[in-house]
Amino acid sequence: MMDMVRLDPPAELTMPIGEAMFSHRAMRRLDPDRPVSDAQIQIILDAASKAPNGGNLQPARYLVIRDREAITAFGKLYFEAWWAKRRDAYGWTSKADIPEDSVYRMPALLADEMVNAPAVILAYSETSGVAASSTFPGVQNLLLAARALGLGTVLTTLHPEVMDRVNAMFEVPADKVFHCCIPIGYPRGKFGPTSRMPTSATTSWDRWGQSPPWK
Ligand SMILES: Cc1cc2nc3c(=O)[nH]c(=O)nc-3n(C[C@H](O)[C@H](O)[C@H](O)COP(=O)(O)O)c2cc1C
Repeated sequence: MMDMVRLDPPAELTMPIGEAMFSHRAMRRLDPDRPVSDAQIQIILDAASKAPNGGNLQPARYLVIRDREAITAFGKLYFEAWWAKRRDAYGWTSKADIPEDSVYRMPALLADEMVNAPAVILAYSETSGVAASSTFPGVQNLLLAARALGLGTVLTTLHPEVMDRVNAMFEVPADKVFHCCIPIGYPRGKFGPTSRMPTSATTSWDRWGQSPPWK
């Protein structure tokens, strides 16, 4: 029997795309007691599958972690990975080392919170090289589809120190390339506007450094 490929958009994805894009922000505190259904995960991954990718070779592969004990075990490795990244970059080893005004205060919270996620998706690809460019458009679709379902997400990464253990934990074959990790659940915080640079500051028009025709 052929596997089902969804051609029409799922009826659940009714949020206007502008609203999804403009109210999507990093949700690090997820509600462990409000379940996310497998049907919701399928919608999110179906949305991811529709993204552009080089040559339509579709190298992206997703590992969905649903088992509670596995999420707890993964959460411990995520915590270790997050602190390994800060140790490498800044020499920090505990929250007391993080300056008051640091952008890392909130991400430090995610290191504690990962264990509470109702689901975690790890994005891999079949090959390396340009495969990353062919995986992240799908990941962005995934994030927006989750937002449209009212589910919170945050894109995050791991650290080489834990990769072998993560891959062994989930029996990931050695040739798969890890890209990012996305916890999913109903948020304990609120969706809302994000703080970003104006596009006039990030955009050049016709030649580098020339302003676009808006302020
Ligand atoms: C490549 C990448 C790595 C990220 N790593 C982390 C992370 O380790 N921990 C975390 O809490 N958020 C992480 N984020 C989420 C960013 O912190 C977040 O998108 C950014 O601060 C904007 O937040 P906002 O959408 O809530 O405004 C990452 C995002 C990207 C794209």
